[in-house]
Amino acid sequence: MKSASLCMLSLYVLVMSISDRDSAQVVADGGNSGFISIDCGASTDYMDEATGIWYQTDKGFIESGTNHRLAPYIDFYSQASTINRQVMTLRSFAEGERNCYTLKPKQEKQKQKYMIRAIFAYGNYDLKYQAAVFDLHLGVNYWTTFRKSNTAASPISVFEIIMEKDKSTETVQVCLVYTGQGTPFINSLELRPLNNSLYAAPLPLIIDCIYSVRYNFGSGFHRTWTRFKDDVYDRLWWNNDNPDVNVLQTSVEAKAEDSVYELPWEALRTALQPDNNSNLLTSNWSFGDRSNQYYAFLHFAEFEKLPRGQKRIINVTFEDGISLSQQLTLEYLKPITLISNITKGLTIKAATDSDAPPILNALEIWKVIQQPNSPTAEQDIKAIKEIQHIYGVSKISWQGDPCVPSQWAWDGLNCSYENDIRIISLNLSSSKLTGVIAPPFASLEKLESLDLSNNELTGSLPEFLATLPNLKFIYVTGNKLTGSIPKALREKANLEISMGNNPSLYCLENSCKEHKKFEIPLIASLSTLAIVTVLVSLVIWRFKMKTVLSAKSQKKKFLKPKNQAFTYSEVLRITNNFETTIGQGGFGKVYLGTLEDDMKVAVKLLSPSSKQGYKEFKSEAQLLTVIHHRNLVALVGFCNENDVKALIYEYMDHGDLGGLLSDKNQNVLKWSYRVQFAVDAAKGLEYLHNGCMTPIIHRDLKPSNILINNFMVAKIADFGLSRAFTNERDSHLSTQPAGTPGYIDPEFQRSGKLDKRSDIYSFGMILLQLITGHPPIRGQLENVYFIIDWIRPKIECGDIQGIVDQRLNGEFQVSSVWKAVETAMSCIEPQPIQRPDISYVLNELKECLAMEIDHANSNGLQSQLINHHSGQLDSITTLSAR
Ligand SMILES: *[C@@H]1O[C@H](CO)[C@@H](O)[C@H](O)[C@H]1NC(C)=O
Ligand SMILES: *[C@@H]1O[C@H](CO)[C@@H](O)[C@H](O)[C@H]1NC(C)=O
Ligand SMILES: *[C@@H]1O[C@H](CO)[C@@H](O)[C@H](O)[C@H]1NC(C)=O
Ligand SMILES: *[C@@H]1O[C@H](CO)[C@@H](O)[C@H](O)[C@H]1NC(C)=O
Ligand SMILES: *[C@@H]1O[C@H](CO)[C@@H](O)[C@H](O)[C@H]1NC(C)=O
Ligand SMILES: *[C@@H]1O[C@H](CO)[C@@H](O)[C@H](O)[C@H]1NC(C)=O
Ligand SMILES: *[C@@H]1O[C@H](CO)[C@@H](O)[C@H](O)[C@H]1NC(C)=O
Repeated sequence: MKSASLCMLSLYVLVMSISDRDSAQVVADGGNSGFISIDCGASTDYMDEATGIWYQTDKGFIESGTNHRLAPYIDFYSQASTINRQVMTLRSFAEGERNCYTLKPKQEKQKQKYMIRAIFAYGNYDLKYQAAVFDLHLGVNYWTTFRKSNTAASPISVFEIIMEKDKSTETVQVCLVYTGQGTPFINSLELRPLNNSLYAAPLPLIIDCIYSVRYNFGSGFHRTWTRFKDDVYDRLWWNNDNPDVNVLQTSVEAKAEDSVYELPWEALRTALQPDNNSNLLTSNWSFGDRSNQYYAFLHFAEFEKLPRGQKRIINVTFEDGISLSQQLTLEYLKPITLISNITKGLTIKAATDSDAPPILNALEIWKVIQQPNSPTAEQDIKAIKEIQHIYGVSKISWQGDPCVPSQWAWDGLNCSYENDIRIISLNLSSSKLTGVIAPPFASLEKLESLDLSNNELTGSLPEFLATLPNLKFIYVTGNKLTGSIPKALREKANLEISMGNNPSLYCLENSCKEHKKFEIPLIASLSTLAIVTVLVSLVIWRFKMKTVLSAKSQKKKFLKPKNQAFTYSEVLRITNNFETTIGQGGFGKVYLGTLEDDMKVAVKLLSPSSKQGYKEFKSEAQLLTVIHHRNLVALVGFCNENDVKALIYEYMDHGDLGGLLSDKNQNVLKWSYRVQFAVDAAKGLEYLHNGCMTPIIHRDLKPSNILINNFMVAKIADFGLSRAFTNERDSHLSTQPAGTPGYIDPEFQRSGKLDKRSDIYSFGMILLQLITGHPPIRGQLENVYFIIDWIRPKIECGDIQGIVDQRLNGEFQVSSVWKAVETAMSCIEPQPIQRPDISYVLNELKECLAMEIDHANSNGLQSQLINHHSGQLDSITTLSAR
């Protein structure tokens, strides 16, 4: 009975998730993926019947604010129709100076244009007939100001902006900013990707309904708006007549050809036309603020068949101090768009040799706005958001950009605004933080002061804080920290640590256990002395280096500068004559080594049999030494002397993922670790694929190439090798088998075409192995069987328990595993084009991790889960250290 109901339950989960997603994708945007549509204040997601667009509630886009409905008697009958449902609810923000929606559009291209639309309708939702004036910001820059009168049924206001986003920034933020004049609110927020070739004008461009507009001419008010699905980009065309001018409507059934602007036929099939050859339109706009630049996009489409030989030629004159005229000859059913900046006005009339009066089908006027502010450095944003997430910091001001604009910088941090904008101090004292001091603090590179006093922090004071070059103050008084202060922190110059009132935190092992309130006085004079000592010894060391090098003496050990060429004798010395073998990779044996500063390294000696193939070894190796990422195994140096070629890597204490997952490992790797490692590896791969100037394709991703260090951080190894060190003879053959059976992309094997998506396939296989505990292929020769054949039917029947590694004993979140399974399956789609980009995979995995952390939080297991970030915990030692 029990197993039956479990299966039913998981089947239900599966059906739900698939149908949810499918319906979301099919109806959400009619296959036009990438739309984000938020009906602010709505209580459920729904498919809008008028447009077929999938609208979501605010959940996941913003934390603050409260939901409201418009007053019951409000009816937007006069404007209604296609945006009626979205304006009926809203979200308002009585607290906080700045409240921000965070949108995460999927982005494939390096740069992508988006149109973002915000819709406002007051509708006396608070029953107070109150006026409000508030600002709208896009990211760190001002967009526009919303003003509403104090009447109940003030009209619907629509604001649009076209902006371009770089792929390196993950999110787009739309913020409502309080100006002291009433409570900000919003009814609907939408994001639409545009074809990058559209709206070629300085960005961002805005439509603010006052001086800038989008009209569908000649259609009357019968439908009020034309939008999706008529318009693939879901532009809102305001249906408009000019009472002074005739309306021309096509009787033609045919449709206009597609144009670059993909104009909806609904907008083109009507036009304005004067009944004689006078001017169609003479506008003498005195634009409100002349300091701004405006762009007009005039859309024409001929839908009348003129008698043979006759032509309709239109003369458009822009007044810009001098008159600039352009002539257009319209062709039957061929839309054409004329673009120009305008400052004063424009006139549209027939050219002198035209056989027909002028027409105008649709018009857009956009205003160019300035973006003077730049955001905080991406690295700091990521780190502080991770900190916010890990500790669940709930401060109303922690929204939008942390430092910019400075008047809304987050509470508890200070920033420097020279060159790039960085966080320089962080004060999270008395903020109810629990768990350990997590690694993201070490990503706040420019931090000078860190105050974590009076929280419930546990674990030890982590060594990684010593890597922050400018750190001068650490305050951790009043926590529950344990252990001793790491050597690196004790010895860091100019650092003061306040550590009183932690029951069992000692400054030195066995040295001052009695003085529990010891404040470490790493005083300036001491550190000055230290600096002098270091300088003196550096000079001496340099001097000695020279003698040592010239004499090739083996007595003295080396303090080797990083990222440099090692000599063969140095390699011998650091490996103690290749004493300890720690592995055997595809390119040769790996030995344990120790540098002078006791840093352990792994020395990979490339097998001499293929040495002639190591073409341009040195330049390639030098290239690899400059690739640095937290989740990539760092190349410390290399040796290229005569016939000896070696690569020297940082040492990874916990061995590789293959070993940790294998049956031979007594300590079963917990699900939370598995997800964390997957996230880590995905971050590393994302950097290789999307973070470098030219993408680096790994070509041989597999569990044995994912290594785990002492801090339980997973890193990818052996990247760049396949490219750099393929055999010279074969280098023109990209079909050369690189990769490992089971993990290698079958499509790559078939076509030999190398692509980022081949790595995605391998990554998917690794994910499946993390989930099931089984490698992709088991057995040999006739008895080979493929894990995927075994998994597929189980997925179809929703049997999650049957898929997951039995050794986990059911200790996992079903929702988190399902998400991981779905992600893995999308990665191993047979058609490479259907596989997602690594950034998408990373996001999905982060969500899996968040589910695990949420679950752990709600069960008081938080420290257990998050602890592994610190790498200072007992649990580490229970993992096999190989
Ligand atoms: C964008 O427009 C260009 C020019 O019309 C066209 O070649 C291209 O296919 C369009 N791209 C998309 C994704 O529609
Ligand atoms: C032409 O039409 C315009 C507007 O439709 C009107 O103002 C003008 O008087 C007309 N001119 C002639 C010569 O009919
Ligand atoms: C436009 O308006 C300005 C002042 O508002 C006036 O001087 C000018 O003559 C007008 N131009 C036309 C073509 O009406
Ligand atoms: C408008 O565009 C023209 C030509 O592209 C340029 O010469 C002129 O300076 C622009 N005017 C403004 C106000 O930007
Ligand atoms: C277009 O209009 C301008 C301004 O009215 C005029 O100077 C020019 O001669 C016209 N061009 C043609 C070909 O009609
Ligand atoms: C930020 O700077 C102000 C003024 O110098 C100071 O009072 C405040 O304590 C600083 N905040 C933090 C978090 O260091
Ligand atoms: C951090 O904030 C607390 C309370 O707001 C304050 O007492 C303390 O002095 C601040 N720490 C620093 C380093 O400014």
